[in-house]
Amino acid sequence: MAKIGILMSTTRDARFADQPAAWLLRFAQARGDFAYEVLDLRDYPMPFFNEAGSAMGAPIEDPAGQRWQQKVAEYDGFIVVTAEYNHGVPAVLKNALDFAYRQWNRKPVAFVGYGSVGAARAIQELRLLASALQMMPIGPAVHLQGGEFMAVWKGGKPLDELPQLPAAATRMLDDLAWWVRALKTARDAA
Ligand SMILES: Cc1cc2nc3c(=O)[nH]c(=O)nc-3n(C[C@H](O)[C@H](O)[C@H](O)COP(=O)(O)O)c2cc1C
Repeated sequence: MAKIGILMSTTRDARFADQPAAWLLRFAQARGDFAYEVLDLRDYPMPFFNEAGSAMGAPIEDPAGQRWQQKVAEYDGFIVVTAEYNHGVPAVLKNALDFAYRQWNRKPVAFVGYGSVGAARAIQELRLLASALQMMPIGPAVHLQGGEFMAVWKGGKPLDELPQLPAAATRMLDDLAWWVRALKTARDAA
C-alpha cells in the first residue's frame, strides 16, 4: 500500500499544528486507500543546514539529517499542513526541505494551510519549492482561514464542526490519490 506523510511545518512548543494534522490523519485514514502517517519535525532535530553541499549532489553528514532522508524516502506522497510565518514558509520546514533531494523527487505534494488567509502565501511559496525539488504540487488545497481559523485557534471550536472541511479535504485527497498512483506506477516502472 502506498504511504503518505502528513508533514507539519512548525515545531514551537505552543504550536497549533497538531490539531489540523490530527484531524486530517483521522479523515484520511477513514478512506482506507493509503497508509497515512504524521511526520513531525520535532522527531528530526536537524541543525541549520551546514553541509558540504546541496543534498542534490553531496551525502548528508548530520545524523538527524540522514534519518530524515531515510524517512522521506519511505513515502509515496506528502500533505504539508502548514502555518504562515510573516507571509512565508516557516523556516524549520524550509530547512527540512533542503536536507533531502532525491527522496522528494517525482512525488506529489498537497497542502493544508491555516492562518488569516489560510496560509495561501506560504503555500504559493511551497509550490515553487516543490518544483525545485522535482515534486508535483497538486491543485486543490484546504485553507482554514479568517473567522473560522480564529474560532478554532482562539475559540477552541472543534475542527469537526466546520461543515465545509470534509468536502475540501476530499477534493484534495482525491486528486492527491490520482497523482500518488500515477507517479508510483511510473517510478516503479523506471
Ligand atoms: C513568527 C510568526 C509569524 C506569523 N506570521 C503570520 C502570517 O504571516 N500570517 C498569518 O496568517 N499568521 C501569522 N502568524 C500567526 C499564526 O497563524 C499562528 O500563530 C499559528 O498558530 C502558527 O502556527 P503554529 O501554531 O503551528 O506555529 C504568525 C505567527 C508566528 C509565531
